[in-house]
Amino acid sequence: MELILSIESSCDDSAIAITEISTCRLLFHKKISQELEHSVYGGVVPELAARLHAEALPKILQECEPYFKDLKAVAVTSSPGLAVTLVEGVTMAKAISVALNIPLIGVNHLIGHIYSLFIEKEAKFPLSVLLVSGGHTQVMEVKSIDDIQTVAKSMDDSFGESFDKVAKMMGLGYPGGPLIEELAKNGERNRYKFTVPLHRSPLIAFSYSGLKNAVRLAVEGADKEDYPHIAASFEHIATAHIIQKLKKYFQTNVPKTFAIVGGASANLYLRSQIEELLRPHKADLILSELKYCSDNAAMIGRVAVEMYNKKMFTSLQELDIAPRSDL
Ligand code: KG4
Ligand code: ZN
Repeated sequence: MELILSIESSCDDSAIAITEISTCRLLFHKKISQELEHSVYGGVVPELAARLHAEALPKILQECEPYFKDLKAVAVTSSPGLAVTLVEGVTMAKAISVALNIPLIGVNHLIGHIYSLFIEKEAKFPLSVLLVSGGHTQVMEVKSIDDIQTVAKSMDDSFGESFDKVAKMMGLGYPGGPLIEELAKNGERNRYKFTVPLHRSPLIAFSYSGLKNAVRLAVEGADKEDYPHIAASFEHIATAHIIQKLKKYFQTNVPKTFAIVGGASANLYLRSQIEELLRPHKADLILSELKYCSDNAAMIGRVAVEMYNKKMFTSLQELDIAPRSDL
């Protein structure tokens, strides 16, 4: 058996995967999330996250020992993400590379999210992908692992981040996405008339900071009973923004296959609105399994197999973290 061990520590999830190279089969995957620890702060505290990775990663690694003799490479998320947490994974990967004398593979986390669509499956391109996570709101045209064009990205906050911030304003906890989605179920989507960001702009880009501030004003002037309506109206406009910009993008480019990836792709309202948008275009919608929407190491392992086959290795000296290296 020829295997790759992959490590993910770009934000607040410590995860390790073991993937079989010839079949892409996932033989082991374990993730320890830090959501509870960050919840009291209403967001991820980088130094706390780094300390928790330093505790969690060695624990998970111990469980991987039976696979060590078959490892042919070690992969790790090296960009983008929080500098202090990326370092935890990269340091561990380098140590494994030296100890077992196997090559290193540095994986871009965003490519990881794209490959979350293909865990234990063959990758199929071309594809247009909407990545919605805590760090990114981005539309990409993907032809292969080394041919990815970004056609739209956020100018400020991301879709997921805006949910986190709205949840924090309401004192709900972290991560905000699932909490706001739940609260919105009991609210009216048209009760609060927030403006759709960039609706007059010809740009195909995203922006969530203005909407976030409008919601802040609404929260400050509201009673707790109004929160479900604010949540529902916010979710509606945050989604309408994506739909408007995708409509614009589809005017010049209708993909045959469209995908939504990233932690916020779990949002059912967003999914349903995109399904509706795609229907007249007869484009297929593909999604990753729910357990692989949020950060995980299985997706890093899936990219690593592709990179291993193309011999995309990085030397010990060269592999460095690149916290801001987007696609
Ligand atoms: O991909 P991910 O796990 O981490 C990053 O790479 O950022 O995404 C986490 C983000 C958080 O901002 C979280 O609030 C958001 O995804 N999220 C959601 C939902 N579930 C998670 N946002 C909206 N609706 C959801 N159901
Ligand atoms: Zn992510």
